[in-house]
Amino acid sequence: MAKVLLVDDEMTMVQMVTEFLRQEGHEVFPYTNFKDAIAALETHTPEIVISDLYFDKTRAHGLEILQKARSITPPASVIIITAFGSIETAVEAMKSGAYDYLEKPFKLDELNLCIQRALSYNEAISENLYLKKQLKKKYQFSQIIGTAPKMQEVFKMVERTADTDSTILILGESGTGKELVARALHFNSKRQFAPFIPVNCSALPENLLESELFGHRKGAFTGAINDKKGLFQEADGGTIFLDEIGSMPPVLQSRLLRVLQEREVRRVGENVPTYINVRVVAATNEPLEERIKDGTFREDLYYRLNVISITMPSLRERRDDIPLLVSHFLKNKINPRSGQPVQITRQTMEVLTAHDWPGNVRELENAIERAATLCENNVIQVNDLPPSLLKALPQFSSTPAVSGEIAQLPMSNTSATPLKSGTGAEGEMSALAQAGTGHPDLPLKDFLREQEVAYLNRTMALVGGDKEKAAILLGVSLATLYRKLSEDGIS
Ligand SMILES: Nc1ncnc2c1ncn2[C@@H]1O[C@H](COP(=O)(O)OP(=O)(O)O)[C@@H](O)[C@H]1O
Ligand SMILES: [Mg+2]
Repeated sequence: MAKVLLVDDEMTMVQMVTEFLRQEGHEVFPYTNFKDAIAALETHTPEIVISDLYFDKTRAHGLEILQKARSITPPASVIIITAFGSIETAVEAMKSGAYDYLEKPFKLDELNLCIQRALSYNEAISENLYLKKQLKKKYQFSQIIGTAPKMQEVFKMVERTADTDSTILILGESGTGKELVARALHFNSKRQFAPFIPVNCSALPENLLESELFGHRKGAFTGAINDKKGLFQEADGGTIFLDEIGSMPPVLQSRLLRVLQEREVRRVGENVPTYINVRVVAATNEPLEERIKDGTFREDLYYRLNVISITMPSLRERRDDIPLLVSHFLKNKINPRSGQPVQITRQTMEVLTAHDWPGNVRELENAIERAATLCENNVIQVNDLPPSLLKALPQFSSTPAVSGEIAQLPMSNTSATPLKSGTGAEGEMSALAQAGTGHPDLPLKDFLREQEVAYLNRTMALVGGDKEKAAILLGVSLATLYRKLSEDGIS
C-alpha cells in the first residue's frame, strides 16, 4: 500500500490506472492537470509519482513535476510514462532523477511491479540512511570518554549545539579532545554526510594558508599554475574546523571575519565572491583575551567566533576518568592490533592516576600505546611507562628506572616495607636494622607505631608533601593516608 500521485492529460488513461491501483490497495490522487498536480505534491506527500512526460513546442511537461517531487521530504520516487518512441525523453527524465520509465502502451502488471520495486528501493534507502546515522552517532559519542561533571557539561553542549549552524569556539589545553568534540559536532548534525575539513592554522605559512583556505586563481601568484578551490569551498555543505585559531596571522583574521559576516569567499586573485554554506568550528589552547590585549588577535573576530564556547577540562581536573580512558585505549586502540588483551597492574594504574598529564589525553594515549608495545606477557608494569613519567616519581629521580627496583613499589599496607632497592625480605630486614634501637623495652604496638610515624615522615619529606604521590608509594588509598597522618599528628 502506497500513496500514489498520478498525472496524465489523457482522462481515460488516468481513470484506468487509478481504478487498477486502487484495486491493488494503493491510495491514489489522480490529476489531469500538471499545475494542480504540482500544487498537490506538498499536501499529499506521495511516495510514488507517476507522470506522463511529453514535449510541446515550448517545454517538457513532467520534468517540472519530477524536480518538485524529488525536492519534497521525503522525496517521492517518480515513474515516468513516455509516448512510444520518445526514448530521448526517457533518458532525459532518468538523468533528472526519475526512478524508472514505462513506454506506452504498458501492461498494468508492469506498472505494479515498477511501483513495488520503487517502494522497496525507498525503504532500503531510508533504512540505510537511518543506520548510517545511528552508526555515526554511536561511533562519535562512544569515542569521547568522560564521566566527570565537566565532561558531562561538554556532552550536553555538544548535544544542544550540534545540529545548529552556530559558530563554536572550543577552548582547552592541547590534547584535551578539542578535535574530537569538533568531529562530534559535525557528525551529530545534518551536515554529517558533507565533508568535515580540519585546518591547522599554525601549521602553514601565511601566504599558503590564505590560498589553502580561500583558494586561488591560476596566475594569482608565482606557483599558482592552476585554479585552486579553497578549503572553505571543499567544506561546502559541511563543517570547517579551524584548529589553533590563535596563531592565525592578523591579515587572515580580517579575511576570515569577512567570510563569517558575509558567508562568501573570494579566491586569491579573484574579485567575484562565491557563496558558501559552511559551519565554522574553531579551537584554541591560547588565552585569546591576552592575544587581544597584546594586539595579535582581533577582538571583533573573537566575538564572532565565541558565539558559543565549549571548554574542555584538563585531564588532571578529571583524574577519576583516567582508569576509564586507559581501559578504552587498551580495548579499542591497542587490542585490535595485537589480538591479545593487554592488562595493567594496579600500581601502574595508580601512578597513571597521580600523574599531572601536561599533554592531557593525548599524552596518556601515547603512554599507554608505548607501554602496551613494550610490556612483557601483555601486562603493563610501572616500568613500561615513559621515562618522563617515572622521573616525576621520587624514588626514580635519584636512580634510573631499572625493572628490578620498580617491582619493589609497595603494594600492601605494611608500612615497614622499604622504599629503596633489594628484594622484599632483604628490604624489611634493612628497614628494621635501620630503625631498631636494640632495646626490647617497648611493647610491639608502640614500636610499630614509632616506625610508622618515622616512615610516614620520611615518605612525606621525600615527596615534598604531595599526599597523592605518598599514597601511591605507600600502597594505601588517599583516605587511609589522611587518616594515618592525622592519627600520627603529621601535617
Ligand atoms: N575524552 C576522550 N576520550 C577518548 N579519547 C580522547 C578524549 N579526548 C581526547 N582523546 C584522544 O586524545 C587525542 C588528542 O585529542 P584531540 O582531540 O586531538 O585533542 P586537541 O585537539 O585538544 O589537542 C586523540 O587521539 C583523541 O582521540
Ligand atoms: Mg588538536
